[in-house]
Amino acid sequence: MPDTPPRLQDYVLLGRSGLRVSRLCLGTMTFGTEWGWGSAESAAREMFDRYLDAGGNFVDTADGYTGGSSETLVGKFIRDRGNRNRVVLATKFTFAAEPGNPNSGGNGRKNIHRALEGSLRRLQTDYVDLYWLHAWDGLTPVEEVLSTLDALVRAGKIRAVGFSDVPAWYLARAQTIAEFRGWEPICALQLEYSLVERNIEREHVPAALALGMGICPWSPLASGMLSGKYRRDRSLEGQGRLGAIQQSANPGFLKLFTERNWQIVDALVSVAKEVGRSPAQVALAWVARRPGVASTIIGATKPSQLDDNLAALSFELPEPLRKKLDEVTRPETVHPYHFFEPEMQQMITGGTQVSLR
Ligand SMILES: NC(=O)c1ccc[n+]([C@@H]2O[C@H](COP(=O)([O-])OP(=O)(O)OC[C@H]3O[C@@H](n4cnc5c(N)ncnc54)[C@H](OP(=O)(O)O)[C@@H]3O)[C@@H](O)[C@H]2O)c1
Repeated sequence: MPDTPPRLQDYVLLGRSGLRVSRLCLGTMTFGTEWGWGSAESAAREMFDRYLDAGGNFVDTADGYTGGSSETLVGKFIRDRGNRNRVVLATKFTFAAEPGNPNSGGNGRKNIHRALEGSLRRLQTDYVDLYWLHAWDGLTPVEEVLSTLDALVRAGKIRAVGFSDVPAWYLARAQTIAEFRGWEPICALQLEYSLVERNIEREHVPAALALGMGICPWSPLASGMLSGKYRRDRSLEGQGRLGAIQQSANPGFLKLFTERNWQIVDALVSVAKEVGRSPAQVALAWVARRPGVASTIIGATKPSQLDDNLAALSFELPEPLRKKLDEVTRPETVHPYHFFEPEMQQMITGGTQVSLR
């Protein structure tokens, strides 16, 4: 734990790169109303301005968010403030832009170039600071992905490379190849991470720590569930994103409302009361200080939510309360991970204490 609480003006290096980013990144998947649960331009602009005014410098979007509107709005806001150089602008490629055209999506060279040209146009810039592979496509040879991204860095069109939503084995293989071939390394890893979704702790967190990547958690409030505003005994009707997508068979929604997750919300709400903070601030404070986390991607649909979330780094969670949240949210230990627990390690070291340093 740091002695003084980190603020938005306190920057960290993103993984083993020279890129300086704030500890909270502004997610802009909610910029634009096309998906039925985002914000109109005026609210989006207000949130963008408030984030930058609070000292934030890291903005996350994607080519496909709200059908391209998110990038268009972000591009406009940056142009109007005239501060392109101050913003660490991150966007993504992978999802198909054209039904029936297999080369309009995926991680092959043809699509990466197509996607980047579109993003640069919408963002009104000639370079992206951090270019994310949005999701593993399970198909493209890793050498093609890496050599394409390396060439884009050398051409000055992108400044750094990140991977999102990939298997850990693929990430480790990619980084090892990049190191050996002298290609641009992957400096960041974007995955879902929150009090209700801790599965990345098994493989991805140790991989990121060992391979020099900063983790950027997405949906740190589980799409709003960890704001504490949803209740077991109340209808979701008319209640934010989760109310809007409840009929959509969205897998992200279906996995959320389990008894285990309601118990987590109960514990979170009680901890929030004890520290006199909102549940959203406590949930963000918890994830932002997990090992390997560089910058947490926050989302909001209203400026008041953003203000709430921006205060998440201005307090420390007392150790007993942090432990309480750790305990209630601990992921199940499945095979082969029980071999790496302290009890089994004692059998490996013959009962002695051996540490790395
Ligand atoms: N790489 C990927 O695959 C991936 C996937 C998803 C997201 N992302 C990135 O991560 C960012 C954040 O994701 P997310 O929007 O899902 O984050 P989130 O923090 O889990 O959810 C944000 C939503 O929760 C509600 N909310 C936020 N703060 C609140 C508060 N203080 N009080 C009450 N309600 C609050 C708002 O929705 P309502 O007002 O509608 O309730 C808001 O839009 C995205 O913008 C995007 O940049 C990446």
